[in-house]
This record gives sequence, C-alpha cells and structure tokens, in this order.
Amino acid sequence: MTQSLTIRRPDDWHLHLRDGDMLRAVLPHTARDFARAIIMPNLVPPVVTGAQAQAYRDRIMAALPEGSDFTPLMTLYLTEDTDPADMAAAHASGLITAVKLYPAGATTNSASGVANFDKVAPVLEKMAEIGLPLCTHGEVTDPSVDIFDREAVFIDRVLDPIRKSHPALRVIMEHITTGDAVDYVKSADQNLAATITTHHLVINRNHILAGGIKPHYYCLPVAKREKHRLALRAAATSGDARFFLGTDSAPHTDANKLLPCGCAGCFTAPNTMSILAEVFEQENALDHLEAFTSLNGPNYYGLPVNESTLTLTREAPDYPDHIDTPEGPVTVFDPATPLNWRVS
Ligand code: DOR
Ligand code: ZN
Repeated sequence: MTQSLTIRRPDDWHLHLRDGDMLRAVLPHTARDFARAIIMPNLVPPVVTGAQAQAYRDRIMAALPEGSDFTPLMTLYLTEDTDPADMAAAHASGLITAVKLYPAGATTNSASGVANFDKVAPVLEKMAEIGLPLCTHGEVTDPSVDIFDREAVFIDRVLDPIRKSHPALRVIMEHITTGDAVDYVKSADQNLAATITTHHLVINRNHILAGGIKPHYYCLPVAKREKHRLALRAAATSGDARFFLGTDSAPHTDANKLLPCGCAGCFTAPNTMSILAEVFEQENALDHLEAFTSLNGPNYYGLPVNESTLTLTREAPDYPDHIDTPEGPVTVFDPATPLNWRVS
C-alpha cells in the first residue's frame, strides 16, 4: 500500500479569496498547499478594470503569510460595458490570466454580469484574437428553467452558440456538475476544458436535502443527482487533460450561510488535498491525482508546471471544523467520510 505520494505542487484554477479581514483569514489555507490560483473577481463592487485588478492583486500580496511564494492569477469580471482595450492592456502587461463570465444574477455578487450575450461579442472576439481565456459560470438564470437543469440548458442556449461564433476562443467551463457538461467537454476537439470542484466529487443533492437541510452543502451550481457525481469522478480521475481542479472554495460566515436565504458556497481550502487524495484512492486512480491538480491546468492555460512539490502521507489529517475570522466563524467543508491522507 502506498504510504506517501509526492506530486508537483498543485494549482487551484478557481478560487474565491474575498477581501479585507476575510481575505487575510482564508488566504493562508490556500497558500499553504497551492502555488497559484485563478482569483475570482466577484467582489462588491466587482473587479472590472485593469486598475481594479492591480489594486486587488496588491491587497492579496499584502495579505500573504511571510515567506509565501503563492502567485494569484487575476481575472476581470465581464460586464456589458467591459472596455476591450483596457482588458487587452491588462492581458498584455501580464496582470490578468482570464476573464470571467457570470450570467447576470446567476450567483453571489453576479448582478453586474451579462444579460445580453450579443453585447459582449466584440470583447469575446478580442479575447479570441489575443489568446485570453474565458472562464464561465455555466448556468442560465431563466426562472422558468429548473435549477437542476440550468447547466445543461446553458450549454445549449449560451455556450455552444458562443463557441460557434468564436471558435478560436479558449473556454473553461468552471465547476461543472453534470454528465452533460462532461460529455460536452469531451465532444470538443479543442479550446474547451472544465474545472471540477472538490465538493462536487463528494456530495450529491441528497447530501443537501435528505434528512434535514444542510446549508453548508449548498453551493452553485447546486450538486446534482448521484449519476452526475459519478460522471464527474470518472472525468476527474481519468487523467484526461481537459479536466482539472478548480476548488471554488467560497468562504461565507456561518451567520451568512445559516439564514432563511443563505449564501451559496463550500469552504474547502483547508482540506481539499486530503479529500482529493481520498477520492482518487477510492477510484484506484492515485496515479492520476497529479494530472488533475498540477499538470492539466497549466497545460491548458499555457503556463509552466510548478517545479516545487507537495507530499501527502497516509495519516489522518488534522484540520479544524471551522476557522475564526474577524467577521465570524467560517465552517470548513465536511467530506462526511474519514480522510486518510495529510499534506506533510
Ligand atoms: O457556491 C458558489 N459560491 N458558487 C458561486 O458561483 C459563487 C460562490 C461565491 O462567491 O460565494
Ligand atoms: Zn466560484
């Protein structure tokens, strides 16, 4: 039995760090295990311009623990008013790595997102031209579409038309939750990849709703049926270069989760690598863990893989059930299964 596993240092291709006190409280948990992360721009107000991305990057760097070499990969929040020239300049200077598309109203702080996709066509054309990838929150917001179908409908109504209009645009379907998305990614021969979260490999919708409602398992896109979780596990553990880790670790205080209208998000930064090692071992695929966490992402983004390494040892991890922040406690995702791997 393997007792220890050394892989190239992982990256997180989808992460919420927030700002201020929350940023300072959560950042060390990611910086401990990950070399780089794609930083989500859904602050209030959102990170729309190059100047805002630069200022946010500065705040992240100032919040890093002493001696950390973590690199935040910044993104811009796409709006119908995004200036293609400002975006291209932020890309040319190396400041931003991707642009994030939120359909307006799809999730936390997405009110300034895109309602009319035709309006962003010139920006998408520019992105295709300069090789700047588009990260998508893939859910329609049409209230007549059932929340469990919103990802599959997004593929048909929004994503496929965008990809047909801009075939050179490099797209990342973020935090996919369905077998439909897995199949769609596999059907594309180029310019399409997907991130998968830690929590969607672990929970299905029963975890949220059966035997009492569990707000800490509520996230967006919401976890789906078991057959979809199994499709995600198969994709993640397959070694297929089009699938890689984006934790979507999304801290909210317990006070904001445990409400009549609670926030969406699972906070997985402290225990993600232990959970993933467990999942990959359960699938007899520990030899593909490195591809998922450390190779496929940089390969798709055209970035070098990390030279440093991370070692997991077969030992029960110790991580807190919550972290304290000046804004209040934030509950750490409960994988509901014993974990047997720790980051050493
Ligand atoms: O669960 C989620 N939380 N999904 C998102 O898309 C946004 C995120 C957040 O910012 O809290
Ligand atoms: Zn997210």
